[in-house]
Amino acid sequence: MNNRVYIFDTTLRDGEQSPGASLNVAEKIEIARQLERLGVDVIEAGFPISSPGDFQAVQEVSRIVRNATVCGLTRAVLKDIDVAAEALKGAVKPRIHTGLGVSDSHLQHKLKMSREQAMQRGVDAVRHARNLVAEVEYFLEDSARADIDYLCRVIEAVIDAGATVINIPDTTGYSTPDEYGARIRTVMERVPNIDKAVVSAHCHNDLGMAVANSIAAVMNGARQVECTVNGIGERAGNTSLEEVVMALKVRHDFYGFETGIVTQEIYKTSRMVSNLTGILVQPNKAIVGANAFAHSSGIHQDGVLKERTTYEIIDPRDVGISESKILLSARSGRHALAHRLSELGYELKDDQMERIYERFLKVADSKKMVYDEDLQAIVADETSTVKISYELLHVQVSAGDHSLPTATVQLRGPDEQIITDAAHGTGPVDAIYKAINRIIDVDNELIEFSIQAVTEGIDALAEVTIRIRQVNDIYTGRSAHSDICVASAKAYMQALNRLLDRVTQGSRTKTFEQV
Ligand code: KIV
Ligand code: ZN
Repeated sequence: MNNRVYIFDTTLRDGEQSPGASLNVAEKIEIARQLERLGVDVIEAGFPISSPGDFQAVQEVSRIVRNATVCGLTRAVLKDIDVAAEALKGAVKPRIHTGLGVSDSHLQHKLKMSREQAMQRGVDAVRHARNLVAEVEYFLEDSARADIDYLCRVIEAVIDAGATVINIPDTTGYSTPDEYGARIRTVMERVPNIDKAVVSAHCHNDLGMAVANSIAAVMNGARQVECTVNGIGERAGNTSLEEVVMALKVRHDFYGFETGIVTQEIYKTSRMVSNLTGILVQPNKAIVGANAFAHSSGIHQDGVLKERTTYEIIDPRDVGISESKILLSARSGRHALAHRLSELGYELKDDQMERIYERFLKVADSKKMVYDEDLQAIVADETSTVKISYELLHVQVSAGDHSLPTATVQLRGPDEQIITDAAHGTGPVDAIYKAINRIIDVDNELIEFSIQAVTEGIDALAEVTIRIRQVNDIYTGRSAHSDICVASAKAYMQALNRLLDRVTQGSRTKTFEQV
C-alpha cells in the first residue's frame, strides 16, 4: 500500500460551521489561495445549495484554484448535487461530496428512514453525481456509532455506484483511537471492492482525540485525512491540519507516511484563518500557539540556548516561524538575559551585567514579561557614565483629588550621608522635585518633562525624559520604572548628577552626554 496521505481541507466548510466564524466570499478566496500555497490536496469550499454566498464561494474558488481538487458538499439529494456541479464547473479537478447518515440514531431520529431506503438514496445520489463529475466522495455520517455490518454494505454499494472516495466520519467525536482504527481496518478487510476507492478519516474533537483518531485511521488503511486549519469546526472542532501533518512529518521514523504539505506555510495559514474567522488560537495550541516555541523556565532557556533540541522536537522554521522565543520573566536566568542583550547589540562588562540582572529581576517581579524595550531602558539607565553625587534611595508620594500632593525622598549624599526630606507641590512630580531640591540645593530650571510607556499594557514601564537648564547649559535625565513617580524622581536625579558632575569638573567632559 502506498504511503502518501492526502490532505482534505474543510476549513471553508466544516471549519466555517464554528460558531461565529462566518466568512464572506472574498475572505474564502483569500484562504483558498493560501491553502493552495500550503499544498493541500483537496479544498472543500462550501455547501453550494445552502446559500447564495456558499454557491458563489465554491464557484470563485473553483475558478481560482488550479492545483488542488475543489470540492462542494451536498446532501444525498439530486437537486443539491446539480447545484454543486454547477458551482464546480470552472474547477480543474471538481469533486462532489455527498452522503447520508448510517447510524441507527440518525436513521430513526433525523432521517426517519429504514436502512434499505437510506442505502438506496445513497446509491442514487452517487450515480447521479458520477454523471456530472469524475470524483465523487461519499460520507457515511455518524459512521463511528453505526452497525459495522450495515456500514460495510453501504460502502460496497456506493463504490459499485461509482464513489471514488469513502468518508467514514466520527461525526460526534465519540471514538477512541483503537476503536476508530479497528473500524477502518474492518472496512479495509471486509468490503470486497474497497481497493477501488480511497478511504478517508473525518474526525471531530469532542473528546480531544480527533488527531489521534485520524492517525489511527491512517495506520489502518485510510489515505485521506479531513481536517481544518487550527482545528476549527462544529462544537469542539475537527482534526487540526497542522497537528496531523506535523505528527506525520516529525514522527516519520515511526509512521512512515508522507503528505504534500509545504509545512513552512503552516504558521502563515494559521494566522490568516484566525484573523479572518476571529477565532483566536489558544496560546498553548500545538504547532501554532503563541507558546508552542516559547521557553519560559530558566532551566529550559539555558538548555535551548546551549542546544535547541534539548527542549524542542520541531524546528520552528519548519512551520514558518523564524525562531523560538526566549520569554524573559522572573524565571529567566542570567544566561537567557545575556543572550537577549547580546542579540540586541549590547556588549556589557560583568559588573554592568550583574547590575542589569538585578534591575531586570525587579522589573520581572512587578510585571509578567520583560520586553526588549524594557531591557533597553534598563541598560540605558545602568550604563550611564555620569558620576553619581547623590543617589536616590527612596521616594514616597501621597496624592489624590482631595489631598495636597506630598513627597518624601531619601538620598545618599557624596560623603555617604543619608538625607531625608519632604515637600508638597502642585502635583506628585512637582512635590518630588521640590523635596529633592531641598536636599540638593542647586539652581536649575526644568524646561522639559515627557513621559512615555515603553511597552504595552497596564504594567508597562514608563520612561521619563527631562531636561533642566542652568544658565546656558542643558542637562538631560532619563529613567524607566513601572511607577511613574519613581521614574520621574530617577530622571531628575540623573539630570542633577550630570549638572553636578559638570560643575565639579569645571568643564564639559566626554564622560557624559551634554545636550
Ligand atoms: O462530521 C460529519 O459527519 C460531516 C459530514 C457532513 C462529512 O461533516
Ligand atoms: Zn464534520
